[in-house]
Amino acid sequence: MMSQSLFLLPGDGIGTEIMAEVEKLIAWTNETGLTDFIIDRGLAGGVAYDAHGVAITDGDVTKALAADAVLFGAVGGPKWDDVPYDQRPEAALLRLRKELAVFANLRPAICYPALADSSSLKRELVEGLDILIVRELTGGVYFGEPKTITELGNGQKRAIDTQVYESYEIDRIARVAFDLARTRGSRVHSADKKNVMKSGVLWDEVVKGVAKDYPDVALEHILADNAAMQLVRTPKQFDVMVTDNLFGDILSDVAAMLTGSLGMLPSASLGSPDPVTGKRKAFYEPVHGSAPDIMGKGIANPIAMIASFAMALRYSFNMLELADRVENAIADVLEDGLRTADIAQGDDRVIGTQEMGAAILAKLKA
Ligand code: NAD
Ligand code: IPM
Ligand code: MN
Repeated sequence: MMSQSLFLLPGDGIGTEIMAEVEKLIAWTNETGLTDFIIDRGLAGGVAYDAHGVAITDGDVTKALAADAVLFGAVGGPKWDDVPYDQRPEAALLRLRKELAVFANLRPAICYPALADSSSLKRELVEGLDILIVRELTGGVYFGEPKTITELGNGQKRAIDTQVYESYEIDRIARVAFDLARTRGSRVHSADKKNVMKSGVLWDEVVKGVAKDYPDVALEHILADNAAMQLVRTPKQFDVMVTDNLFGDILSDVAAMLTGSLGMLPSASLGSPDPVTGKRKAFYEPVHGSAPDIMGKGIANPIAMIASFAMALRYSFNMLELADRVENAIADVLEDGLRTADIAQGDDRVIGTQEMGAAILAKLKA
């Protein structure tokens, strides 16, 4: 087997705790010869700021660019509330997404059968739920210029963020959504605010144009605010939802709760295939953050991180069987009734991060 490189950026808070569980999994897949990953590790976020005065060093960005895939934990925390804006922990994440050009962020929200009672919605609304949010990740208001705060001289300030989309950015994310829809329920909802925003008007126009190349996929337009409402009203009406960077951020947190916990949602961020090698740059991270409220307690749910590793196996390394095995191991552990605090109900026995990681690994070994 050709060895493949993984660059790990555990980050801050629970990022390091959940990444440790993935590392144990990788150690085992390497030991057994299922994989031959070469692992390197770097610093991102507050830990990088503490060590080097920047959210991420150029050296670590270069390593991320060279790796076959990047696994990222989470960044941020109150400790770094007062660092300069450009070096805040989240800047590491945004720089990596932009430099890796991983524009296609896949956020699957799947309700594992065993967790149908852990959602804040009723069982019948979420049982069997399988939504894929396709979030545009390298454009929109996250990156648009100008992005400034200026003094107006009268004691007032003005803050500007700029929402910008060019048609090629919308076209390529729409194609990702339609291609993926073909492998699932063949339905795409495109969410924007074309009733208020010019970028929404262009979004809708381009998505409708792309849809002509996919006559076998049903496209429906939905306003983003209605999408949020519909997600908590009748979530199972959705198959694939494609949307911009900011709406995708918000709608995926909503979708996360349908599955039981933010601690359950993985993500894959993919770039365009290289014209020569066909390889895509790829970045895998849980949807949740560094959870400062529970860091250091050993109670974080590692499933989103472990499922993000499964997505890496699937999308970067074409190890479909092993990806299925990891996902089945997660499902089996949940079927056994094992729960971290965030997904526990009533008198469920609650286990910690390391026990959950060990239980998933034990299922994999079985
Ligand atoms: P958060 O996702 O860190 O936490 C929200 C809530 O969900 C908290 O109550 C937390 O305890 C809980 N939670 C999250 N992940 C969990 C897990 N795996 N297991 C159990 N419970 C979990 O969001 P926040 O509190 O709004 O943000 C905290 C920091 O994280 C901020 O600095 C924010 O910018 C950053 N953040 C980073 C990322 C990232 O690195 N990708 C994503 C989101 C937020
Ligand atoms: C996410 C996070 C990030 C985002 C932050 C931490 C920059 O919320 O990945 O969902 O807003 O994209
Ligand atoms: Mn988010």
